[in-house]
Amino acid sequence: MSDEARILIAQHAKTAALLGVDFLPLGNAPVIAPAIVAPEEPERIPAPEARPEPAFQSATDLDIDPIGSAELRQAYEKISGQHAQLDALKAKYELDAPHQHFNTQFQNIVFGEGDSDAQLMFIGEAPGADEDASGRPFVGRAGQLLENMIKAMGLTRETVYIANVLKTRPPNNATPTGREAELCAPYLMEQIRIVSPKVIVTLGLPASHVLLGISSPMRSMRGNWHTLPARWIEDGIPGVEVMPTYHPAYLLRSYTEDNRRKVWSDLTQVVQKLGLSS
Ligand code: URA
Repeated sequence: MSDEARILIAQHAKTAALLGVDFLPLGNAPVIAPAIVAPEEPERIPAPEARPEPAFQSATDLDIDPIGSAELRQAYEKISGQHAQLDALKAKYELDAPHQHFNTQFQNIVFGEGDSDAQLMFIGEAPGADEDASGRPFVGRAGQLLENMIKAMGLTRETVYIANVLKTRPPNNATPTGREAELCAPYLMEQIRIVSPKVIVTLGLPASHVLLGISSPMRSMRGNWHTLPARWIEDGIPGVEVMPTYHPAYLLRSYTEDNRRKVWSDLTQVVQKLGLSS
């Protein structure tokens, strides 16, 4: 190999490493390895435990204010700016406290954060211990991997919006039940309406199921574009394009090349949809 080629490859590798990318493109060949780097220490996040589904109760049964009501919208419209609207929505969540109707152990409400006018939104399932302690979404080990994914897309955490279906930590990081998700979904949908992103990436099954209103396995959802169910769109939520992919915590548990390749392929579609170059 010539010296010139060596220098070019070294320069490319340095740039790629800065972007959190761990592959080298070969000529015109497609990306051959996943571009997602795990945080340094090996990770063993236990899989969440399954919990029995309690008898269903909807937000209406519990007399929680309909978050998407015309009155509330009018109130929002008087608040100028998406950031202030999100603050108002957070205050409303705290007042309604839908989590008081289910079993949760939390120190802080983790409402969501990022650019209130972001083109891209990531949605996970619920805060874990680190998020609960800090009040910020995705700051633990799964969060570090998510940040690497975002960097590999050529973006930063500050330029996207990150939220969860549940805003409080479930006991033992359990998967949200259908009832919990149903009680919290209106607030998430209102976050989506305010931020009005072009694309949403749902991380893992619970977020994908809540957003898409389906219960398909990840293998049949990921890699394909989806739209929100008609009922949300009829409620004034904009027609966002949704790309489901594996949750970073799952990726850390199953850090195989195949899984990383799949996630990177999903994110590449998002990069293309947003007209970004990663
Ligand atoms: N997992 C999630 O789904 N959300 C977080 O905020 C952190 C971990």
